[in-house]
Amino acid sequence: MRIEGSRVVVTGASSGLGAALAAEFARKGAVVVLAARRLERLRQVAARITSEFPQAPTPLVVKCDVRVKKDVANLVKSCVDRLGGTDIMVNNAGTAVYGETARVSVEDFQDVFEVNFFGALRCMYEVLPVMKRQGKGLIVNISSVAGLHGIPYLATYSSSKAGLMAVSQSLRAEQAIRKTGVRVMIVCPGYVQTEMFEKEKNVGGGHRPRHPYRPAPKVAAAIVKAIERGKRDLVMTLEGKALAVFKGLLPGLNEMTMRKIARKLRD
Ligand SMILES: NC(=O)c1ccc[n+]([C@@H]2O[C@H](COP(=O)([O-])OP(=O)(O)OC[C@H]3O[C@@H](n4cnc5c(N)ncnc54)[C@H](OP(=O)(O)O)[C@@H]3O)[C@@H](O)[C@H]2O)c1
Repeated sequence: MRIEGSRVVVTGASSGLGAALAAEFARKGAVVVLAARRLERLRQVAARITSEFPQAPTPLVVKCDVRVKKDVANLVKSCVDRLGGTDIMVNNAGTAVYGETARVSVEDFQDVFEVNFFGALRCMYEVLPVMKRQGKGLIVNISSVAGLHGIPYLATYSSSKAGLMAVSQSLRAEQAIRKTGVRVMIVCPGYVQTEMFEKEKNVGGGHRPRHPYRPAPKVAAAIVKAIERGKRDLVMTLEGKALAVFKGLLPGLNEMTMRKIARKLRD
């Protein structure tokens, strides 16, 4: 897929992976639409893109809380009104609650699902008619390696990302047989160095690993490269690939690995 000249919406573009993805798309000549709740941070990301890549089209900034239907509708409408449509929609906005599953409340699950699952779903439903009218479009859903298997102390996050994967697969098959031209790609990054871990609620019982966390620009570059190559899914890191393979072949091994992680990270 050609990135240059394409119209790309990135939700959660005010920090971390979203900001890095927006910069990478802009570097390759896309018109990027930056969406999130923190307008000032979005403006800073846009200013950085403009100064680093002066040849790139000026980014658009749209304040959008993906939990609010009218914000999402306004985001997609802004793209249609100002750019004539959307070629790529990256559902990247995300949040997490960390800690032992028995200590997490139903409300914690609801809070995480509202952003990671329903937020992405709202964006998909809003952009789908636009892409169908265009006869083409790519929806990129940022799931996680944690969506491939329930990870200890990450129940809210893992289940929301697994749900996002499932709905992506359903939609993908349906769009393919209807030949609408709309494609859906699922991306599962491993640990990325971002501010997500500082902001997340921790209910206790476990702690985050001191893993190597990959820099966001590197992860963003790999994702954009996979989009250019027309990949259907992207599972990142060796651990992620192993988890995906062993899930079907050796589920007992994954279970043992999860227990090992649970023991290692227990407080
Ligand atoms: N970091 C990792 O290790 C890792 C690994 C795998 C997958 N991921 C996924 O990568 C994505 C980006 O996360 P990150 O690590 O870059 O964390 P981050 O720096 O905290 O970025 C999260 C982004 O989501 C936005 N966001 C949160 N709630 C929102 C809402 N209600 N409406 C709109 N935007 C909202 C935030 O912006 P505002 O606060 O300004 O709204 C922010 O821009 C997430 O989907 C995450 O699950 C991360």
